[in-house]
Amino acid sequence: EINFFFPKQRTMAVIKPDAMEEHKGVILEEIHGRGFSVTQLKEMVLSREMAEEFYKEHREKPFFNQLVEFMCRGPCMILVLTKENAVEEWRAMMGPTDPEKAKEKSPKSLRARFAADILHNTVHGSSSEQHADEKIGFIFGDIGGDAELSGDKTISA
Ligand code: PPS
Repeated sequence: EINFFFPKQRTMAVIKPDAMEEHKGVILEEIHGRGFSVTQLKEMVLSREMAEEFYKEHREKPFFNQLVEFMCRGPCMILVLTKENAVEEWRAMMGPTDPEKAKEKSPKSLRARFAADILHNTVHGSSSEQHADEKIGFIFGDIGGDAELSGDKTISA
C-alpha cells in the first residue's frame, strides 16, 4: 500500500440570482460530476452592504452599482469547492465573463449556455487562491486550516 499526497485547493463559487430558478440543479450536478467536493454551502440573499464589501475591488468601476443591485435582487448560492487546482478548473467551467465571448471561445461553459449578458452572467469564481481565502473568510468566517486543504488518498499497489 502506497500513500500519495495530493495538495488540495479551495475556491469560492457563487450561483448568481439570474441562475437560481432555472439552472441551479444542473450547475450543482456538473460541479459534482467534475469531482469537486463541496465543503461549505450557503443559500442567502446578500444585503447591499455585503455585496458592496464582496465586490469592493470594483468600487471604482462604472458598473459597480448595477452589479451590487443585481447581486442583492434575490437568493444566491455560495459554495466552497475543494479540489486539486480548484481555482483554475472552476474558472474554466464558468467560461469568460462576457457570454458573447464565452460562446465563441468556450461554448460548453456555464456562461456560454446560461448567461444573458456580462452583468447577468450566472456564476462567480475566485480569481486566485488568495482571493478565495479572503472571500471564504468574509462569507463563512475563518474555517479550516491545513487539515482541510490537504487530502490523503490511499492507492493499493
Ligand atoms: S476586471 O475588471 O477584469 O477585474 O473584472 P471582471 O473579472 O471582468 O469582472 C468583475 C465582475 O464585474 C462584472 N462585470 C460587469 N458587470 C456589468 N457590466 C459590465 N460591463 C461588467 N464587466 C464586468 C462581472 O460579471 C464580474 O463579476 P464576477 O462575479 O466577479 O464574475
